[in-house]
Amino acid sequence: MNASGMPVFLLLLWTANTPQGAGVQVLPPVNFTLTVSALAQVLLHWEPNPAQEQNNSTIRYDVKILSPVPEEYDTERTRSVRTAALHNGFCARVRTLLLQEHLQMSSPWLERNLPPLPGAPETSVTNLSCVTHVTISGNVSLRCTWLPGQGAPEDTKYFLFYRYETHTEECPTYTKDKWGRNTECRFSSTQIKPGEIDSLIVIHINGSSKRAAIKPFQQLFNQNAIEKVNIPRNISISLEQNDLLAMWEKPISPFHEECFEYEFYLINLKSGNKQILKISSNSFQLRIDGSSRYSIRIRANHNHICRARGFWSDWSEIIYVGQNKLDNSIAWIVTLLCVSTSCTLLLVAIICQINHVWSKLFPPIPAPSNKFRDPFPIDYEVK
Ligand SMILES: *[C@@H]1O[C@H](CO)[C@@H](O)[C@H](O)[C@H]1NC(C)=O
Ligand SMILES: *[C@@H]1O[C@H](CO)[C@@H](O)[C@H](O)[C@H]1NC(C)=O
Ligand SMILES: *[C@@H]1O[C@H](CO)[C@@H](O)[C@H](O)[C@H]1NC(C)=O
Ligand SMILES: *[C@@H]1O[C@H](CO)[C@@H](O)[C@H](O)[C@H]1NC(C)=O
Ligand SMILES: *[C@@H]1O[C@H](CO)[C@@H](O)[C@H](O)[C@H]1NC(C)=O
Ligand SMILES: *[C@@H]1O[C@H](CO)[C@@H](O)[C@H](O)[C@H]1NC(C)=O
Ligand SMILES: *[C@@H]1O[C@H](CO)[C@@H](O)[C@H](O)[C@H]1NC(C)=O
Repeated sequence: MNASGMPVFLLLLWTANTPQGAGVQVLPPVNFTLTVSALAQVLLHWEPNPAQEQNNSTIRYDVKILSPVPEEYDTERTRSVRTAALHNGFCARVRTLLLQEHLQMSSPWLERNLPPLPGAPETSVTNLSCVTHVTISGNVSLRCTWLPGQGAPEDTKYFLFYRYETHTEECPTYTKDKWGRNTECRFSSTQIKPGEIDSLIVIHINGSSKRAAIKPFQQLFNQNAIEKVNIPRNISISLEQNDLLAMWEKPISPFHEECFEYEFYLINLKSGNKQILKISSNSFQLRIDGSSRYSIRIRANHNHICRARGFWSDWSEIIYVGQNKLDNSIAWIVTLLCVSTSCTLLLVAIICQINHVWSKLFPPIPAPSNKFRDPFPIDYEVK
């Protein structure tokens, strides 16, 4: 396949302006094809233009992906594999680059595209979200949820597939909505390698219905960005006077300790004060109010140094520390009340006794009630 005359003519005009490259024709590659080689994977392939003169120059190729995600790079090879969501099609260009010492010349572009995957509008799933989890045995589980497309008939059945590297697998366990349409999928174990960094998980959801063609949907996820981190382990909290010492171990994960950060959630149960501290190590010390009781929870996430952040782990179980003086003072008040009540009773008894004597001595004296009331405030003020 030859390049049309028009771009070559333009190129000649351009090369004519550069003295060293005068007379050199740079021809576009030939037989450029796009092939879907796996779920959400395209093989771009082309051949060198047989008519291209090379002499002492180096030939490379410039590749430009136009959609779905723009990208441009150059390569000396004649094939290239890209991972991209293909449901809305794929479009790419390639051109020849001729490098002569300090001069670079390029051919016109050659463009190809893949059409969008077929299906009726609005039948694709929406709001897809996925979460992975590293299990105790070191396997990675995967859970995805989605909403049926607005235009998806009630009899739509959706099917989810994931691809990781060369492994593709259909979901074994679905959860359905009230019309029986699958809206959630769980893989208790996958081929996803928990220690990889920035590898892609491809999700492909297609479907079938008697009433409409269901348009497939694809999405790529960075495996580290959708990992729900495990809870920190073996948390130990101790108190030394007014210092709280906390220690824990990193969550179950193939990553090193330096790859985690933590949030330490401290509630002073006496004052109600809440504090969330960001901590980048596995232990720390904090000055607290020794007369308060505290509740403590910790959660973990990857830090940005090692990889894309995941989702925060759940909070650990609540740990309580400290003697709440509030409890003590309640006990104290109760004791005081008991004491004062007995005192009052005793007083009343004594007063009654005295009254009895007095009434015998001076029968008409009135208003004993004042004497009954008075002891109370005095009694309370004593403590
Ligand atoms: C490249 O080399 C061929 C012979 O090998 C020669 O005929 C041609 O003119 C050369 N072209 C350039 C641009 O140097
Ligand atoms: C391009 O493809 C055609 C037809 O498939 C084939 O005959 C030709 O040899 C190919 N050209 C190159 C350079 O591979
Ligand atoms: C290639 O380069 C060498 C020196 O770098 C030069 O001697 C030779 O003539 C060049 N050949 C062509 C075809 O330009
Ligand atoms: C689905 O996503 C859209 C746009 O991203 C958002 O507006 C909507 O609230 C989401 N629906 C649900 C139920 O999450
Ligand atoms: C977890 O992975 C191991 C191999 O690493 C495998 O033997 C085991 O069956 C997996 N566990 C589950 C629950 O799939
Ligand atoms: C869904 O996609 C898978 C994987 O590409 C394919 O094997 C299957 O036939 C498709 N199902 C429907 C109903 O399109
Ligand atoms: C947690 O502590 C227990 C006992 O104290 C110990 O057996 C276990 O190995 C610890 N866990 C980790 C991850 O070190």
